[in-house]
Amino acid sequence: MLIMDKIKYQTREEKKGIKMKKESFGTGRNGEAVSVYMIENKSGGQVRVTDYGASLVSVIVPDRDGNLQDVLLGYDNVTGYENNTCYFGAVIGRNGNRIADAKVTVNGTVYELDKNDNGNNLHSGRKGMDTLVWDVREHTENSITLSCRSADLEQGFPGNMDAQITYTLTDDYALELSYEAVSDKDTVANFTNHAYFNLSGHASGDVLGQELMLRASHFTPVINAEAIPTGEIAPVAGTALDFTQAKAIGRDMEADDIQIGYGGGFDHNFVLDKTHKGAFELAAEAYSPVTGIEMKAYTDLPGIQFYSGNFITEQAGKQGAVYQKRHGFCLETQYYPNSVNEPGFEAPFLKAGETYRTKTSYQFGVRQ
Ligand code: BGC
Repeated sequence: MLIMDKIKYQTREEKKGIKMKKESFGTGRNGEAVSVYMIENKSGGQVRVTDYGASLVSVIVPDRDGNLQDVLLGYDNVTGYENNTCYFGAVIGRNGNRIADAKVTVNGTVYELDKNDNGNNLHSGRKGMDTLVWDVREHTENSITLSCRSADLEQGFPGNMDAQITYTLTDDYALELSYEAVSDKDTVANFTNHAYFNLSGHASGDVLGQELMLRASHFTPVINAEAIPTGEIAPVAGTALDFTQAKAIGRDMEADDIQIGYGGGFDHNFVLDKTHKGAFELAAEAYSPVTGIEMKAYTDLPGIQFYSGNFITEQAGKQGAVYQKRHGFCLETQYYPNSVNEPGFEAPFLKAGETYRTKTSYQFGVRQ
């Protein structure tokens, strides 16, 4: 159950007098104090999360020589996240990815959503949950739980929704993301996280030489550069989108393939090969030959958006890093884009009073 009281939250450790790792992350546009929280495992790994958008700020894991590497693109303070047009590290809610014509029908009523992407709705709208300051509910040494409320008709979606995410960093380097949401009206719930990874280090340049395997023999082709799916579920075999065997992200990036043309690179939803619906299984595996760091993504969701960072414009990132096009890649676990309007796709509708629950895990390791 989500606790929606507004009583000032104290962590278990704070109650016991143990100082948890929390620092100021600056002042938000509306005068709010924003913080950054650290979680750590017992093996030296470290993840930082800000309450602004419940966004990931850094993911620090060892490389094959035991040196720590920050493999996540991010910013130094809240202002970076407020000006962020790429959704770096943010939780996307209530709906990840695109909804055609920014319209969704729930119980016969058409709801008009924020049109923030060529007349379509992308990542819920301009003021999605990625722009809210979340409440910290629980903060232990290796996990943090944040919650937020999205009001009825916010960005156009029906129902007051209470959402919650827990990030946990396990001792064997799994970064687990567990989401929950409840609404007082039937609505849409399709959360994701928009982390941009660079397994050679966040400031190391492009990700084209990093390898990727997607456990997906099908994908959802898009109609045009607006990236709304045609509704078809097409095989990847024989196309540039075939990642069933690991290959360098850059290998087929310039392939003469209309789908690549529409995305300006890879920006597609892959249909995960599952043993059964809802199975929490391996979805993707990425690897940097430079650092030896590998990352395996597991999810119970049916799809994953592999986005090769095609629209990252040159900008200042954390600690003096300069990020550019394709300096990070995203593996956004999700229901398929526009699944609320596409009868052939499993749709992410949530009934009033029922609890939406989903889990994704990014498991880090090294290859020698
Ligand atoms: C989308 C891209 C979009 C990006 C925003 C991704 O999830 O698939 O098309 O440009 O988010 O930075």
